[in-house]
Amino acid sequence: MIKFLDLKAINDSFEPELSLAIKRVLDAGWYLLGNEVIAFEQEYADYIGTKHCIGVANGLDALRLILKAYIEMGEMKEGDEVIVPATTFIASQLAITDNRLIPVFAEPDLTTYNIDPFKIEELITDRTKGIMIVHLYGQNAMHPEIQRLVDKYNLKLIEDNAQAVGAYYCTDESYRQGMPCLYNPSRTGSLGHAAGHSFYPGKNLGCLGDGGAVTTNNDELANIIRALANYGSNKKYVNDYQGLNSRLDEIQAAILRIKLTRLDADNKRRREIAQYYLDNIKHPDIILPRLDVLDNLKLETWNSELSHVWHLFVIRHPKRDQLQNYLTENGIQTLVHYPIPPHKQLAYKRWNKFTSNRKNS
Ligand SMILES: Cc1ncc(COP(=O)(O)O)c(C=O)c1O
Repeated sequence: MIKFLDLKAINDSFEPELSLAIKRVLDAGWYLLGNEVIAFEQEYADYIGTKHCIGVANGLDALRLILKAYIEMGEMKEGDEVIVPATTFIASQLAITDNRLIPVFAEPDLTTYNIDPFKIEELITDRTKGIMIVHLYGQNAMHPEIQRLVDKYNLKLIEDNAQAVGAYYCTDESYRQGMPCLYNPSRTGSLGHAAGHSFYPGKNLGCLGDGGAVTTNNDELANIIRALANYGSNKKYVNDYQGLNSRLDEIQAAILRIKLTRLDADNKRRREIAQYYLDNIKHPDIILPRLDVLDNLKLETWNSELSHVWHLFVIRHPKRDQLQNYLTENGIQTLVHYPIPPHKQLAYKRWNKFTSNRKNS
């Protein structure tokens, strides 16, 4: 049986380092807000290319905390709107609705499955305060059109980087003409005002439980998020905000420090495997993934070294369930990502009838 994801085998391949890291925390006898988290936050900020990283309990909390901090800063308030792709894991929207903000669902681009940059502007109103882009399945979702809208309407750009840790976005003019990205590669997670990251075990950078992080270059935002994640406190027993308890623990941080050192190599291997699938799956009914949102501008511009980290290799097929059964019978495990989109879930029944226009609020 070829497993969808063999996490035990993956984590075994890091031994004995993982066991030694856990032992190091046990020996230190310090479990929260300690040196492992401090070191990981610095290493991860350096990796992503931002000034700040705040370790938090999971990816959903990372996004919740960013929006909560914007509310504390007076940049957003209850009832304001955040544009978010309709096709994503529900955590992207939960972060918005949990803060009593309104998600405005944007259509995906059917070639990349990411938000369609050219279907955003029609959704913007006076109440729009932010755009949350989701680098879905591991592929960069940033696009020059999104930057234009963020600048024109003075919006906060929040990245949901849960699925794309390690991916890049390139702003070189020459990149769009088919050259390699030589001058301005920026990692996803450093492209907007703030980004949420997930270290859920199955993610490209996964820990051995729940974990997440926020990255940002904004000092004030970083300070407030750090306090909000710790009961609203930056000083013990002094609470400036009504916060949460959402912290990355020392054991997970120690593990992530080890796994981060191999992330680029792992992502490179994912690209090799994806390329093999792309070259060799030739069935006319199977729609293979298409690469890079910049394909919209010019098809041949994709640079395989950069834009995709293949968290998932997603195909479409007119008889999906039949194909899945056939693969199962032949020993190949697959999953559907995602069987029900967030706005069709019972949790969001007021938006179940959403079509492609703005009838969701
Ligand atoms: C797109 C997306 N956003 C957010 C999350 C939330 O991350 P976590 O599971 O760490 O809360 C996930 C994954 O679970 C995700 O896939």
